[in-house]
Amino acid sequence: MSDGVLPASGGNRNLTRTDGQVGSERRALVTGHAGHTVWLTGLSGSGKSSIAYSVEAALVDRGVAAYVLDGDNVRLALNRDLGFSPEDRTENIRRVGEVCRLFQDAGLVVISAFISPYRADRSTVRALHPAGTFSEVFVDASLETCEERDVKGLYARARTGEIPEFSGVSAPYEEPAEPDLHLDASEPLETCVLAVLRHLGIGREPETVG
Ligand code: ADX
Repeated sequence: MSDGVLPASGGNRNLTRTDGQVGSERRALVTGHAGHTVWLTGLSGSGKSSIAYSVEAALVDRGVAAYVLDGDNVRLALNRDLGFSPEDRTENIRRVGEVCRLFQDAGLVVISAFISPYRADRSTVRALHPAGTFSEVFVDASLETCEERDVKGLYARARTGEIPEFSGVSAPYEEPAEPDLHLDASEPLETCVLAVLRHLGIGREPETVG
């Protein structure tokens, strides 16, 4: 390509998709549950990661194969080539969405914690998933609250301009219009975790064996 941009096909039209022999029902016989993507979206500092890791722990305690994909971690490794321009954020979410879909297809409950500020990008990720296997969860904390807490000290640096294009300060955050689950992040962590578990149809106590 003369402009250096690959087309959506990845630059190769000579590819054929191959489906395996094992479908989601057979995988569920092994894991005991269906795969699902729980997509947390919200401002930096809203509590996405805390909720994600607590949900993961609660699910694993109940015998559910769960795994967290977290913004900072993924950006330190898989997506270390990406910054925070609108284009890079879109590519960040596109890649993570594909990974979520693979994990979901493999039968895991994947919990992703990314700001994912653009509605269109979140819709793209939803569209990658079969119906009923994706939940958009809005971790709703006001900018004032996140900035007041400023756990990582990033908001202060964003206000001075040291960190450009900071979500909520100098870059947009588009709230979900109709999330599958709306969490009030001012509620205790436990309340938010239980709401996610209930949304997934999983009860309060770990299942006892035997
Ligand atoms: S997203 O917008 O592409 O979804 P992502 O969730 O992966 O963002 O990464 C956000 C994390 O990167 C924040 O929690 C924060 O720790 C860090 N960060 C660094 N620079 C920025 C920035 N300009 N805007 C938002 N977050 C930033």
